[in-house]
This record gives sequence, structure tokens and C-alpha cells, in this order.
Amino acid sequence: MSNEESTGDVAARVRTFYESLPFNQHDSAKDAARSIRAHDLESSYPDLHELLASGRISSVLEIGCGAGWLAATIAHHYGEQHGVDVAAIDFCARALSRARIVAEELRVGDRISFVQSDLFEYERDEPVDLVISLGVLHHTRDCEAAFRHVQRFARDHVYIGLYHAPGRLPFLEMFRAILESEGEDSAFERYRQLDGIHAGDSTLVRSWFRDQVLHPHETQHTLREVHAWLESCELQLDSTSINRFAKIQDLDEVFALEDAFAERSRQSNLVEGRYFPGFFTLLASRPQAQRAR
Ligand SMILES: C[S@@+](CC[C@H](N)C(=O)[O-])C[C@H]1O[C@@H](n2cnc3c(N)ncnc32)[C@H](O)[C@@H]1O
Repeated sequence: MSNEESTGDVAARVRTFYESLPFNQHDSAKDAARSIRAHDLESSYPDLHELLASGRISSVLEIGCGAGWLAATIAHHYGEQHGVDVAAIDFCARALSRARIVAEELRVGDRISFVQSDLFEYERDEPVDLVISLGVLHHTRDCEAAFRHVQRFARDHVYIGLYHAPGRLPFLEMFRAILESEGEDSAFERYRQLDGIHAGDSTLVRSWFRDQVLHPHETQHTLREVHAWLESCELQLDSTSINRFAKIQDLDEVFALEDAFAERSRQSNLVEGRYFPGFFTLLASRPQAQRAR
């Protein structure tokens, strides 16, 4: 198979997968809007919350917005109050259609422009203050190339969420074993028990289960690996979920922490029955933006 064929194949398979059910889709747009009204980003992504509430961000580009919870959350909680507008792209038409309805439900449609595009084909004239992409780049044919492509649109800051290699593998191995020995229904039941957060909404929990357990293509990464990508793009690491967003004094200490994630994940998922899917985030900035923080 030529490179071009295999490249197209990943994108086509991933897109078809999400056209069947977008990720993070609630039973109804009203339910999604209710959940968005109830939560800003402070508890789940405190570093992103602080940046968006700082008054220094007026333009955000979200890559791979899916059913739109983050674009709508930013527009609802930070739009009018902090003057933030959002451009959001995704290649899945069904996800964008729901995202537009959710934005209208929250009356923030005028703060968000949704565009259907493959991220590798997306271009824009003006940079934005902040590029965000959560849970997307690891579903492409080349995560590093995807990162390099999208970080160019950021004048100042980049916020990325990716699957974590050591943290993710025990979770994947556990579900592969259940799928092989007992089948998909048992795997879904196990997933519902583990993931208490999304279990109350039948569409939402199904969309999470498919995404976490049945996905046709994903890769996993480490902060150590992504840090090298940041350096070569002249970006500096500000914060990461790996050390729970604490100030970074010694990078080697943070890398040592992530090495321990395999055992933490095994203990959580297999021993304690606590959900640990293996995902990490990082905020990085261009040097002039970091100096201004
Ligand atoms: C796991 S979902 C994450 C959605 C959203 N970021 C969230 O956190 O709810 C991945 C999203 O990335 C989109 N996606 C994957 N590959 C893409 C590509 N090459 N170009 C554009 N969108 C892509 C999918 O359509 C899907 O909506």
C-alpha cells in the first residue's frame, strides 16, 4: 500500500466512525447546553481557565471540535465576559451539525464560526491567540505532523490533549481482553461501571465507550516526546496535567512522574475499579507570550 493510500485510509475510517456517532454527544442539544451552563473549565483544566479569564485571549481556534462542548463552553463562560471569540473546525459533518445547534441553544452562535475541514487541509490568513486541540491529533495518520501543522496558527499559546502511552496501555489491554473473551456487550457494561461521569446519559456514555474502547485508530504519546516537538517549534512548556498543573521547577521530575503512570493506571482500572483512561494535557507558549504571563 502506498503512503498516500494509507494516509487517506486513516482519515476516511476515523471520519466514518464519527459520522455514525460523534464523540461527547448528549441525548439532546438541550442536555448538552444544560451541562455546559453548569461547568466552566476551572475544575477540569485550571490552566486553560486561568488563561481564558486573563483578558489576554480574544481569539481561539479549536481543532477537532466534535459535538462542540469546548467551543460552546468557551463562548458561554468566557465570550462576553472576557471578549473571546472561537473558530472551530472538524471534518465530521454530523458533529458540526450538533455543535451548531448546541451553540444556538446557548445563544452563543455569533461568537463561534464552525468550519468543516480536515485539519491537514485547513489554512487561515490571521493567526489566533490560542490554538486548542483535545483528543484529536492522536486519531490522525501522524500525530507529530498534525501538531506541527496546527501550532502554526497560534500567535501565543497552544493547548493540547493526547493519549498518554504508559497511562493508556493497561486500560486498552483490559478492554481488549474483555472484547476477545466476552464480546462488546460485556465490554460496554464494564465501561459503564468504570465511567461514572457519563453513565447517566445513554447517548453520551455510548459515544465515550466507542471512543475509548472501539476506536479504529489511535496512537499514544508522552510529555517527554511532545516536549521535543515543542522545542523544535520554539514553544515553551507552561503547565501539564501530568503534575496536576503545578509550577514546573524541574522537568526531569515531571518526566519521572509520567513514567509511573503505567502502574497508576493498572492500580486504578484493574484493582480499585476507578476510571483512568490515560490522557494528558499541556499548555505551551511562544517565548514573548510566556514572558508576558
Ligand atoms: C475524540 S473526538 C474529540 C472532540 C472534541 N475535541 C472533544 O473533546 O469533545 C475527535 C474529533 O476529532 C475529529 N477529527 C479527527 N481527525 C480529524 C482530522 N484529520 N481533521 C479534522 N477533524 C478530525 C473527529 O471528527 C472528532 O470529532
